[in-house]
Amino acid sequence: MKPIEPIKERFRQVFGGDPAVISAAPGRVEFIGNHTDYNLGPVIGAAIDRRVYVAIRRVEERLFRFASSAYSDFVSLDETDSPVAGRDSWVNYLIGVYNNLIRKGLSTKGGFELYVDSDLPTGAGLSSSAALELASGKALCECYGLEIGLEDLAVACKEAENEFVGVPCGILDQGVSAFGKAGGLVHIDCREMVFSVIPLADELSIWIFNTHKKHALVESLYSERYEECLSAVNGLVDLGLEVSCLADLSMDVLERAKPSLDEKIAKRAEHIVGEISRVETVRHLLEEGKAEDAGKLLFQSHASSKNLFENSIPELDYLVDILRSMPGVVGARLTGGGFGGAVMALARKDFTRIYAESVASAYRGRFGEEPETLECHTADGACILESVS
Ligand code: GLA
Repeated sequence: MKPIEPIKERFRQVFGGDPAVISAAPGRVEFIGNHTDYNLGPVIGAAIDRRVYVAIRRVEERLFRFASSAYSDFVSLDETDSPVAGRDSWVNYLIGVYNNLIRKGLSTKGGFELYVDSDLPTGAGLSSSAALELASGKALCECYGLEIGLEDLAVACKEAENEFVGVPCGILDQGVSAFGKAGGLVHIDCREMVFSVIPLADELSIWIFNTHKKHALVESLYSERYEECLSAVNGLVDLGLEVSCLADLSMDVLERAKPSLDEKIAKRAEHIVGEISRVETVRHLLEEGKAEDAGKLLFQSHASSKNLFENSIPELDYLVDILRSMPGVVGARLTGGGFGGAVMALARKDFTRIYAESVASAYRGRFGEEPETLECHTADGACILESVS
C-alpha cells in the first residue's frame, strides 16, 4: 500500500485544504473465464497489490473539481448529468459512479473536490478503470454517509461503465476490485451475483506480461463479441431452445444445434460454453490443491480464446507459447477483453525474475520491444484508508 501522506499533501497543493476521505481499490487479473461474465456464467479473478487511490472532500458550492497524478488536465464541472466530451475522459468514470450513487440515495447537495493517485499501470489489462470506479464509489459513500452493500456498490460501478462510458462489460472487473482477498482468488457467479474466495497456495504467484499492444478498435471489437453472443442466444431461441443466455446451454445441446447456426456465431458460443465449464473445473482443482491440473485448463482457455472467440493477437500467442516451456510455469493465457493487452501466467516460486526476463527478451527478439513484466500478489478489495467525515 502506498503511504497516504504524499497523497494528502498533493490534495492540499491542488485544492488548498485537507481531504475528508481517502480510499483505495485494487486492479485485477482475469484468472479464467474469458467473456463469460456478461453471458452470466462464472469467472475467477484476482485482486492485485497495485491500486488506485482517491482523496475527496465535499464543498458547499455546486462545483465538481477533479485532479489526478496521471493526467495533467484539471477538470472543473458545474453539472455532472452528461459525460464529459473528448478523448474518453477519465472523469466520465467518476461522474458515472456519482450519478449512479445518486440513484441509490446519495445526496445531491453541493459539490466535491477529488484527487486520484495510482500505482496501477493503465492500459495493461489490469482494469485501472474498475479500480478508479470502486475507489471513488467507496470514497463518495463514506464522504456522504451513504450506506450500501459492497455488492450494490460493485453493480453501481459496473452500470456506470455500461451507461456513462458505453462499454457493455460484465461484473468481473468491479466484482474482483470490490471483493478481492489477499491469499485468494475471487469466484463470481455472475447470474446470482455471488462472490466467494478460493484460496491460492502460497507457493504460487501470478505474473503479467503486458504487450502494450492495443487493437485500434478494441472497444468496438469487445462490443462486437458481446453482440455475437446475443445473436447466438437469439439463434438458439429461433431453433425452439429455451435459453435466455449462453450460461443456460450445455455442450451437448450446442453440438446438436451447431449445424443450424451461423459458423462464426457457433464458434463464439462453443468458446463460452467450454470456458464456463473450465472455470468450474479450475475452481474444484484449486480447492483440491491440484494447481498443475488447473494450469492445463489455463492453456486450454487461451487456445479457445484464440481459435473460437478470435480475440487473441500473435504477440499474446507467442508469450503463451514461450511460457509453456518455462520451468515453474503452471499455466498461461490472455487476460481481459483481448485484441491486445496482457498474458497472465500462474507460476511456482522456481519461475524467477531471471526466467521472466528471458521471456521478455525472447519477445523483444521477435517483436522488437519488451513487454512490461509484473509479478503480482493477491490483495484485499476496495477500502477506506482514512476518514474524518
Ligand atoms: C473486460 C471486461 C470484463 C470481461 C473481460 C473479458 O475486462 O471489462 O467485464 O468481460 O473483458 O472476460
